[in-house]
Amino acid sequence: MAKKVIAVMGATGSQGGGLVRAIQNDKSGDFTARALTRDVNSDKAKALAALGAEVVQTDIDDPASVNKAFEGAYGAYCVTFFWAHFSPEKEQAEAKSMAQAAKDTGLKHVIWSTLEDTRKWIPLSDTRMPTLQGKYKCPHFDSKGESDHFFTDLGLPVTILLTSFYWDNFIYFGMGPKKGADGKLVLTLPMGNAKMPSIAAEDIGKCAYGIFKRPSEFIGKTVGIAGEHPTGAQMAASFAKALGQPVSYNPVSWDAYRGFGFPGAEDLGNMFQFYHDCEKDFAGARSLEFSRSLNPELQTLDQWLTANKSRIPLE
Ligand SMILES: NC(=O)c1ccc[n+]([C@@H]2O[C@H](COP(=O)([O-])OP(=O)(O)OC[C@H]3O[C@@H](n4cnc5c(N)ncnc54)[C@H](OP(=O)(O)O)[C@@H]3O)[C@@H](O)[C@H]2O)c1
Repeated sequence: MAKKVIAVMGATGSQGGGLVRAIQNDKSGDFTARALTRDVNSDKAKALAALGAEVVQTDIDDPASVNKAFEGAYGAYCVTFFWAHFSPEKEQAEAKSMAQAAKDTGLKHVIWSTLEDTRKWIPLSDTRMPTLQGKYKCPHFDSKGESDHFFTDLGLPVTILLTSFYWDNFIYFGMGPKKGADGKLVLTLPMGNAKMPSIAAEDIGKCAYGIFKRPSEFIGKTVGIAGEHPTGAQMAASFAKALGQPVSYNPVSWDAYRGFGFPGAEDLGNMFQFYHDCEKDFAGARSLEFSRSLNPELQTLDQWLTANKSRIPLE
């Protein structure tokens, strides 16, 4: 029987890449991946083609190309790229156009990769954190959560997937431990003593594959995933074990983090405050047992650190 095609947005990125690899590595599975990218000739695109994925040129900001990319597919993994433009309005337009393309092409199963609209917990009138870009508390969360309705309004066979903070941010976003003036490593995160649901980025794709394999259980549902729920102190202890040197935890205030000045610092400061203040609901929506049922290879932070510690910049 012909394999069912899953069109994967962001196939050369963290979430989509994990999904393409999960699909293509399961040789006896029912699915094959269509990897969507702006540049079919990039090294990352070529690596996906080498796994047997069909690689198709697509720009998420060109609705006609998204329609073409979804044509003839069974399903699609829909993710947006907030940090490419920092614009909630653009992100919402991208979500809307993917939902419309899924409707136009009659897809049988769509996964929408989203996050909470934090304003449902912390309304704009709440002064504990600043309002950003005029009408958001945490723009990269709120605009995704606000976009969920594009998928549900059209009556799509959709699974709404709440993802988690990637441990890969310790490699790529400079969020890992850094040497202090005394040369000792410090993990700086504004998380107080709260738990932080988080995951190896590669496992998001593997969990998504688990969802595509069990459509009758997950179409019409909202599900959340995480690899672990460590506290800041537990993360520092894991780093210390993996790196073989002391790592202390520095739970800075949210105001201090928002003031760090890098692009997105305020958005992330508000995000960490939301994680902290709404810990019960945020962690409660991301069961580890459930995540492992989708992806039996789900990594713990210790496992991820053992495999990736040499890639984490410490200077
Ligand atoms: N970092 C975290 O902890 C975290 C946690 C949860 C959710 N998220 C969310 O994850 C999303 C990003 O996903 P990711 O981390 O998987 O991506 P990523 O690893 O940052 O990779 C970026 C991807 O975006 C694609 N892309 C960018 N602009 C595009 C366009 N105009 N048309 C088509 N593709 C485009 C790139 O593809 P090409 O260059 O090949 O075209 C690439 O695959 C963000 O919205 C972020 O808020 C992040």
